[in-house]
Amino acid sequence: MQTTTRARLARRRGDYGLDAPYVPFTFAAIGAVLLAIGLLCIFVVKFALGAVICLAYGLFLLLSTASYVYTSRAGKFQVWSELLTELDLRGDEVVLDLGCGRGAVLLMAAALLPAGKAVGVDLWKTGDQSGNAMEATHRNAEREGVAARVELHTADMRALPVADASVDLVLSSLAIHNIPDWGGRAQAIAEAVRVLKPGCRLLITDIRATRQYAEHLQVLGMSAVQHRSLGWRFWYGGPWVATAQPRLVG
Ligand SMILES: C[S@@+](CC[C@H](N)C(=O)[O-])C[C@H]1O[C@@H](n2cnc3c(N)ncnc32)[C@H](O)[C@@H]1O
Repeated sequence: MQTTTRARLARRRGDYGLDAPYVPFTFAAIGAVLLAIGLLCIFVVKFALGAVICLAYGLFLLLSTASYVYTSRAGKFQVWSELLTELDLRGDEVVLDLGCGRGAVLLMAAALLPAGKAVGVDLWKTGDQSGNAMEATHRNAEREGVAARVELHTADMRALPVADASVDLVLSSLAIHNIPDWGGRAQAIAEAVRVLKPGCRLLITDIRATRQYAEHLQVLGMSAVQHRSLGWRFWYGGPWVATAQPRLVG
């Protein structure tokens, strides 16, 4: 049963863009230039050490690009389909996605809420996701057949336009790290806790300071905080930019 739900969730009809598109484009461009220089070193300049260094580094960057694009276009959806299925939702919850972008996670959650509501907030930054726009998310909601139970707001996750204790589940995927300072990230986490109903759950996946998020959730009085790495399907270029998940039951 769970396997069928996971497979159904991971099969997407919308177009969800590419996360931080300048990163893979930069990696790919530098990788290609290094490969070209490496080949010049072999066939024209006859400089063996230069060729080895350029070819190795160029190949490394191209492999990192492949990992990044795979995660952004496929791996992220597979991991989230598993995380959402594991939550075993009733189907009538109010779910809030912080930094929903084009709806990768929001719309999968909406598919599990026949009698509930999936609310997404975002600032629609195109540097953080290609083609990011509220209209693009609406279009994806139509394509996934969940538009009737999806609500979108333009809002900063540091100041949510959502009432205290009104949400059954808060989600956030690859969004909180986009806030440049720790104070702002801590504020977003505090906002997530504020809007959660007592005893309800929060599930974040992100890169970088995820252990700090878990510690901060404990400081905010949340219980059962867990932290785990999400594996190679959620690497943005390699294990050095791995995604992890601090989560809790409040
Ligand atoms: C890498 S995208 C991830 C989008 C989506 N969660 C996903 O997994 O596909 C990060 C998102 O966070 C949004 N974002 C960045 N800072 C934000 C803020 N302070 N408040 C709300 N959204 C923000 C960006 O506009 C972008 O849509």
